Order: sequence, then structure tokens, then C-alpha cells
Amino acid sequence: MSLKNLLQGAVLMSALAATSLMAAPRELIIDTDPGADDVVALLLAMASPQELKIRAITTVAGNVRLEKTSRNARLAREWGGRADIPVYAGAGRPLVREPIYAANVHGEEGLTGVQVHEPKQGLAKGNAVQYLIDTLDKAEPHSITIAMLGPQTNLALALIQKPEIVNGIKEVVVMGGAHFNGGNITPVAEFNLFADPHAAQVVLASGVKLTYVPLDVTHKVLTSDARLKQLAALNNHASQVVVDILKAYIKFDMEKYGMPGGPVHDASVIAYLLKPELFKGRQIHMTVDSREGPTFGQTVADWYGVLGQPANVMWLEQGDAQGFFDLLSARLALLK
Ligand code: RIB
Ligand code: CA
Repeated sequence: MSLKNLLQGAVLMSALAATSLMAAPRELIIDTDPGADDVVALLLAMASPQELKIRAITTVAGNVRLEKTSRNARLAREWGGRADIPVYAGAGRPLVREPIYAANVHGEEGLTGVQVHEPKQGLAKGNAVQYLIDTLDKAEPHSITIAMLGPQTNLALALIQKPEIVNGIKEVVVMGGAHFNGGNITPVAEFNLFADPHAAQVVLASGVKLTYVPLDVTHKVLTSDARLKQLAALNNHASQVVVDILKAYIKFDMEKYGMPGGPVHDASVIAYLLKPELFKGRQIHMTVDSREGPTFGQTVADWYGVLGQPANVMWLEQGDAQGFFDLLSARLALLK
């Protein structure tokens, strides 16, 4: 290689390095119902301040009742060492349907595998729905990303009260839905959509830029003994918490589906924001069924475009499992 080529390569590399270092972090609100996999997602996000400027964590009832999802979000914040991030509690029940919970999966405290305690740092004053309205209303146009890790109730309530806040949203990345995989709470419905399909319909109808991270992909990004050892080898408190949580959390799905490992659903949303190249999908037309009956909560994903309707979501369907765990390991290593 000539000296000229070497110099050109060096200039290109330094330019690339400069742009990646200079890229402003993404303004992010994480809406969540912790939840075992939610806590893994929160720790991954909190370990990535270069790329993610977490404005707030907003909590919603889902896996367990609101007071416990809110306590668990404060616990995750404590474990992530991020006292700078406010936690706002939001909706305690879905828009229309009777509440359902998943304590059978996440434990009565909503956090299986670890001892919980009352974190020192409390909730921020005010309701999460009002926080969303106020923050999105005064945000720069299309500047704030929302990572949606539970039922979409908070954002739906904010959009119902002030539809114009959609202008402050860059995009919403949702853990939810299922098509090729089938459901995990009914034969066709995934839990977050089943828990509040009416809220998902409101968010879909808002026209916001939407990416769904459904069971179609999260059931392909699975733990293994080697991957859990990879995390345990980091030998810090945060990774120990993640390993303890995951070892307990994955048992339910491994037994139910006979899978060789368990999914870490919500963390894939954060991994997608950090390294979208780990995932593959396509823009499709999707609707949410809220009719009473066997298809309640189903996401009807028109993967082959047979309805000829305009695409309204990016639907992810493939994920690089080892790439995900390598990213999770690299970031958890940065925590205490
Ligand atoms: O179906 C999986 C989803 O439901 C995850 O977000 C999990 O935390 C539960 O909320
Ligand atoms: Ca969740």
C-alpha cells in the first residue's frame, strides 16, 4: 500500500471517528413496566450516555401494579448509578379493558431473581402523562424518541389530551406485537398489546414514526449458558443483577415453549436504538384488534402487503443474537 493510500486511510478514519464522537446523543424517554426484561433494558440504556440522553423514565401498570413498576424503575436507576434521571409514575390501568398483570412471569414484586428494597431516591413530582404532554409540547420538532417497553397507555393518554405533541416526537420504538411467532398471552396476542390494545390503536392512529420489536424477533434473541457466563464474567454489580434476574426470568418461557434459552424482550428496543444494524425488518401495514374475543390484542401484520394499504410501521423480524449479547456485555461492563 502506497504512503498516499495510507495517509488517505488515516484521514478517513479520523474523520469517521470525529463524526461518531461528535454525533449528539439521542433525546430519549423510556416508558416502562419493570418487569425483569425492562430492568435489563434500562441498565443497557443507562450505560450508554454517549448515544442516549435519557430525559426521563415514565412508568405504567403492566407486568405488575403501578406502585411496584415505579419502585422497580427507581431500583434500576439506583443499580445503574443514574440519580440524574427522573422517574415519573403514570397510568395505573389501561384505557378501556380490565387490568391484567404478569406476576406469574415476573414475580409478585415484578422483579424475579433478586431481592428488592425501597430505593432512597423517590419519584419525580407530577404524573408521567402530564410530563409527556409538557415535554413533547415544548420540544424541538421531531426531536424526542420514546422507547415503549410496556402497555402504551401513558403516551395514548397524552396524545388524546394534546394530539399536537406528536410534532415533538422523533419516533416511537415499541416492544410488542407478534405475527410469525404467535402470541405469548393468547395464541395470537403479545402481552403489551393485549394489556392495552386501545392505547396501541391511539398511538398508531397518531401517525408517529413507529418501529415494532415483536416476539417475531425477541424470540430469536435468546440467552444461552455461554451468554449468561459472558455477562457473569463482567464481575460487577450491574451484570450480577442482570444474570440473577435473567436466570429466574427465562425459566417460564423456556418451559412454556421448550426453547433452548429465554428472550430479553425489552432490551432489544434499546439495542435497536444503539445498533440498528443488529436487526432486520420491513415497512408494513399493521392494525391492532381490540374486538372482544379470541383475537383481542392481536397485531395484524401485513408482511406481504396483500391488503395494498400504506405502510405504517417498521416491523422487525430478524436479530443478531450474539451481537446483542456482545453489546449488552460491553455496556454493562461500564457500570459499577
Ligand atoms: O411480551 C413481553 C412484554 O411484556 C415485555 O415488555 C415484558 O416486560 C412484558 O411487559
Ligand atoms: Ca415490559
